[in-house]
Amino acid sequence: MALSLSSSTAIHGSLSSSSSHEHIKVGSKFGSFQPLDRASILSTPARRLVVKPLNAEPKRNNSIVPAAATIAAPEVGEKIEVEDYEKLAKELENASALEIMDKALAKFGNDIAIAFSGAEDVALIEYARLTGRPFRVFSLDTGRLNPETYKFFDTVEKQYGIHIEYMFPDAVEVQALVRSKGLFSFYEDGHQECCRVRKVRPLRRALKGLRAWITGQRKDQSPGTRSEVPVVQVDPVFEGLEGGVGSLVKWNPVANVDGKDVWNFLRAMNVPVNSLHSQGYVSIGCEPCTRPVLPGQHEREGRWWWEDAKAKECGLHKGNLKEDNLNGNGNGASVHANGTTTVADIFDSKNIVSLTRPGIENLLKLENRSEPWIVVLYAPWCRFCQAMEGSYVELAEKLAGSGVKVAKFQADGDQKTFAQQELQLGSFPTILFFPKYSSRPVKYPSENRDVDSLLAFVNALR
Ligand code: ADX
Ligand code: SF4
Repeated sequence: MALSLSSSTAIHGSLSSSSSHEHIKVGSKFGSFQPLDRASILSTPARRLVVKPLNAEPKRNNSIVPAAATIAAPEVGEKIEVEDYEKLAKELENASALEIMDKALAKFGNDIAIAFSGAEDVALIEYARLTGRPFRVFSLDTGRLNPETYKFFDTVEKQYGIHIEYMFPDAVEVQALVRSKGLFSFYEDGHQECCRVRKVRPLRRALKGLRAWITGQRKDQSPGTRSEVPVVQVDPVFEGLEGGVGSLVKWNPVANVDGKDVWNFLRAMNVPVNSLHSQGYVSIGCEPCTRPVLPGQHEREGRWWWEDAKAKECGLHKGNLKEDNLNGNGNGASVHANGTTTVADIFDSKNIVSLTRPGIENLLKLENRSEPWIVVLYAPWCRFCQAMEGSYVELAEKLAGSGVKVAKFQADGDQKTFAQQELQLGSFPTILFFPKYSSRPVKYPSENRDVDSLLAFVNALR
C-alpha cells in the first residue's frame, strides 16, 4: 500500500540533533488534550509534547479517535462497527510493517502507544515516524536496566523529539520484594515474581489508559512461545480503557519480519541503536537477566538463561503461553484418564527408535550403552514437538548408519513424573544426548531446533 504523508498529519517540532534525522519534524500534538505537567517544564520547543498520561482518567470527549471504539459497548440506536481482528490479521498477514503501523495509528490515534523496550524495537518508532502520524511511546523502567539502555532512551527521545512515557513499578511493592527476598531472588526462585512487580503491573496500569498498544514481538524471536504471534489481535490478557475482556487491541507490526530484516531496516534508515548490541547482546531486557549470546546461539538464550525455554515470557506477552506445554493437549484432542491423548503419534520414521519406559531406563545405565543416543522427550499433542518433527526426522536420516542412535520417548501422561525426575524434562520437547562414555545425559540447551543446530549438538558430543 502506498502511504501518503500529508502535511496536515505531519508531526511538528524541531530537532537539536545533527543526525541524519535532522529532517524529522517530531513532537506530537494530539487533539485538544491538556498538556502534561512535564511538558510545561521543558524549555526546548522540540521536546514539547501534548498528551494525556498513560494512566490518566479517560477524557472521552477529547478523543481524537474517530469512532475507533469498535469494541465499545453500543448505545441505543448508535450504529457501531465491530472489527473482526482475526479477519483483519489475515488481511494484513502480507502487509508491510509500515502499512500495519499506519493502520494502527490511523485507527486508534491518541489511544494507542508503542511499547518500547530499548532494544531493536526502536524500529517501531522509525516506522511510526515514517507514517507521518502523531504517535506515543511508553517504556517500563524496571529500575534494573543497563546504563546503556538508559542512555539509549535519552538518545531516542532527543533524536525523535519525543517524550517516552515511562512507567515505574510501585515503590512499596518493590520494597517489600527486595526486603523480603533480596535483590537477586529471581536466580533462586524464577523471574516471574520480580517481573510481575517491576514489569507486568506497571504495564497493566499503562494499558488501562489505552485502547490499543504496539509491540515489537516477532515470530522468530522465540520459536517456543512466539511462533504464532499475529500482526493484530484482541489482547488475550490485558484490559484497556473501557475495561473488560476485549477492550484492548494489540498490534505486532513486525510479527512476520525476520530479525535480520529488522537490522537491515535499522541500518538503512540510520536509526540509533542500543550500544549493547555491539557487545554481543541481541534481545535486551533487565541487566541481571540479560547476557550476550555467542554466534549461532538463539537470541532468546541470552534472557533468563538459567530457566527453561518455555518459561521465557516475563508476563508482558503471557498470552503467547499456551497451557499445552506440559498440562493440556492444546489442540482439542481428547485426553485419557492417564493424561495421554488420541492425537496421532509423531516422529514416525524407520530411522527413529521408539523407546519404552524399560528401554529408556536401560539407557540411563551407562554399562548398557554401547553407542551414543539422541532422544527427544515429546508429547504428540504439543505444537512445539509437532513443529520440530521435520527436522528431527531429517536428523535421523542424516545420522542413519553413523553410529549415533536416534530415538523418541513419549513422556506425557503416566511417564511425565518419571521424565521430570529422571530425565530433566522441563517442557516439551526436551532433547537429550546420551554420550557413550558419560553417565548423565546432556540436555540440549537451545531453542534452535533446525537440523543443523541439532547436528552441531550431536557432533560436539559424540
Ligand atoms: S519480554 O517479554 O521478553 O521482556 P521482549 O524483550 O522480547 O519482551 O520484547 C517484546 C516486546 O515487548 C518489545 O518489542 C516491546 O514492545 C515490549 N517490551 C518489552 N520490554 C519492555 C519494556 N521494558 N517497556 C516497554 N515495552 C517492553
Ligand atoms: Fe526482575 Fe529480571 Fe524480570 Fe527485570 S527481567 S523485572 S530484573 S526478573
